[in-house]
Amino acid sequence: MTGRKRTLLITTPIYYVNDLPHVGHAYTTIAADTLARARRLAGHDVFFLTGTDEHGQNIERIAREKGIPEQEHVDRISAAFSTLWERYDVRYDRFIRTTEDVHRRGVLKLWDRLRTAKTPDGRDAVYLGKYAGWYCPRCEGFKDEDELRQPGNFCPDHERPCEWTEEENFFFRLSAYEAWLRETIEADRLLIRPESRRNEILGVIKQGLKDFSVSRARVKWGIPVPEQPDHVLYVWVEALSNYVTALGFSDDGTAYRRYWAGSDERLHLIGKDIIRFHCLYWPAILHAADLLPPNREFAQGFITKDGRKLSKTTGNVIDPVALVERLGPDAARYFLLREAPYGSDWDFTDSAFVTRYNADLANDLGNLVSRALTMAARYCDGRVPARPQLQATGPAGDFTEVFASSVSAPVDGLAERVLGRYEEIDFSGALVEIWSWVGQFNQAIVHMEPWSLAKEPGRRAQLEGFLYRLIESVRLVAVLASPVMPRAAVRIYAMLGLAAPGRGFSPADLAWGRLEPGVPLGTIAPLFPRVDRINEKEKPVSETTPPAPKAEGAPGPAAAPGAAAAPTPAGDRIDIAEFAKVELRAAKVTAAEKVAGSKKLVKLQVDLGRETRQVVAGIAEAYAPEALVGKTVVLVANLKPAKLMGVESNGMVLAGSIDGKAVLCTFDAEVAPGTKVK
Ligand code: MSP
Repeated sequence: MTGRKRTLLITTPIYYVNDLPHVGHAYTTIAADTLARARRLAGHDVFFLTGTDEHGQNIERIAREKGIPEQEHVDRISAAFSTLWERYDVRYDRFIRTTEDVHRRGVLKLWDRLRTAKTPDGRDAVYLGKYAGWYCPRCEGFKDEDELRQPGNFCPDHERPCEWTEEENFFFRLSAYEAWLRETIEADRLLIRPESRRNEILGVIKQGLKDFSVSRARVKWGIPVPEQPDHVLYVWVEALSNYVTALGFSDDGTAYRRYWAGSDERLHLIGKDIIRFHCLYWPAILHAADLLPPNREFAQGFITKDGRKLSKTTGNVIDPVALVERLGPDAARYFLLREAPYGSDWDFTDSAFVTRYNADLANDLGNLVSRALTMAARYCDGRVPARPQLQATGPAGDFTEVFASSVSAPVDGLAERVLGRYEEIDFSGALVEIWSWVGQFNQAIVHMEPWSLAKEPGRRAQLEGFLYRLIESVRLVAVLASPVMPRAAVRIYAMLGLAAPGRGFSPADLAWGRLEPGVPLGTIAPLFPRVDRINEKEKPVSETTPPAPKAEGAPGPAAAPGAAAAPTPAGDRIDIAEFAKVELRAAKVTAAEKVAGSKKLVKLQVDLGRETRQVVAGIAEAYAPEALVGKTVVLVANLKPAKLMGVESNGMVLAGSIDGKAVLCTFDAEVAPGTKVK
């Protein structure tokens, strides 16, 4: 966060305009937008590039099938991408379309350099050769014979027949760059993450790299090769070039000089399906052309649905428009980035989306914001409270001292840790960090009982000092979460009576104490209202065709080997997705007392790790209150609040019974409070 301002380029793949955008595209673009915002928050000079890949045989075919000119088709689909990015609050610096003239000129300039380039051992980097092989028009690439599915010579990815093709093509001598690529990757001058992808690429190099053809006959919709006008440049070479052409490579533009030739980081976010193109072809091409290669690549994992690949053909889809419409862009962005580590594959379920929304956004964050601000407004006349006596002296974001005096657990260096996670492209890690603090602030409220302080005029300074720290902490949480949830951050700022900076947050916003005492607070509005469950009438975010029926007697997904048959008739059984709607958590009882006037009810305070809850349980006849304190029980954590004999209960404790006497469900080893029970 300190030192020279780093310059960096962040890119997404440019997306094919064969079809409308899907959730995989949204996933990468949201990740890139989040990273761009986070790096700006850390004070870096960022250029964020995305766009659409509009040439190639597939487009020719689709336009022909639709009976419209290629340009009309690509204009329509490309607009669907940019419109979707608006809905997701994606703020890019440049949206490149490969049908732009500036792109064509840039590609031809690069081609010119390649035509005269020499390999490290003095041969031509590009040469004319004969190609014969199996070509998949969907991949726009050649396949090895042993990759094909038989019978029918089917492409393993597209499950369509490949075509035997013989043509005279220009080739790029990739084999001559093997040693250079190995050294560059081994020395992390090209840093490939996750580590497993780096190993995969090193493995490919070890097997020996083959030259690849860089021009194509038969395709018309592309950029003609000047020396061979009946050929177009291979769509992948053309597409990869977007990373420099978009910056004005053709005219040696300022953006090109600043964010490519003179930048500290040239970072591509990609999918694991396209790592060879990005980690081998592209760096070698640039190196041959005597241009700087990228120096960082991160391959995201793939989203599946019910364990199956997303595919329109099988009806297994997640509609990114429905996803953003369901609970708004912040919730969708949060879910996609929080649910799994960014480099891993993961499975999308509608119920996980709603559960996470309710637990993390409505409950943890939403409650913190509304409680903190409501108390500040109520007890301090609608204004920012007086600053605590204790002054913060640490660096930006280090508020050890300012909170340590009122929260039991010491907290420090949140901003550094969160920005560090973002920088590592560990979005879920950054969010876990922030939420652990959200939990601590919620606990601090319970611990400090500002409502009791408010009753004692002699403790006014303490009350105001606490509330000041609390809402200033809320402000910092908003700033640190803003890369993922830009809209929520602006709304929290408005509630705090502040205007969020139009250009996005910067390091200055991380400094402790920006709230000015006495300034009126804004109107408090619910940030993330709870949603009950997926509205059945709504179009679901994801759709799945039912899986093929299981063979009779085959166990269901949750059946343990040898498990006794459930007493429920098979027709009434629920599937795993329905079960996943119930949020079960380990809850540690911290206090217990009998509910006045009731023989059966006991009022418990339970620790859920990130929050404390009050729960009423009907177990008073079986357990004395003091025997309950210290026990870790199982809590249904996402039940709607209810009142039992006038006492509010936020959840339900699970128990069985022996002869009508309650027996609590507990754990047979120490489990941390808040742990999910599955
Ligand atoms: N046009 C090429 C890229 C050229 S870049 C110079 C291309 N386009 S694509 O439309 O097929 O998009 C590919 C990218 O979309 C993947 O690399 C990945 O980032 C993303 N995803 C596509 N399906 C996905 C999932 N099911 N899950 C996660 N991301 C996936 O390839």
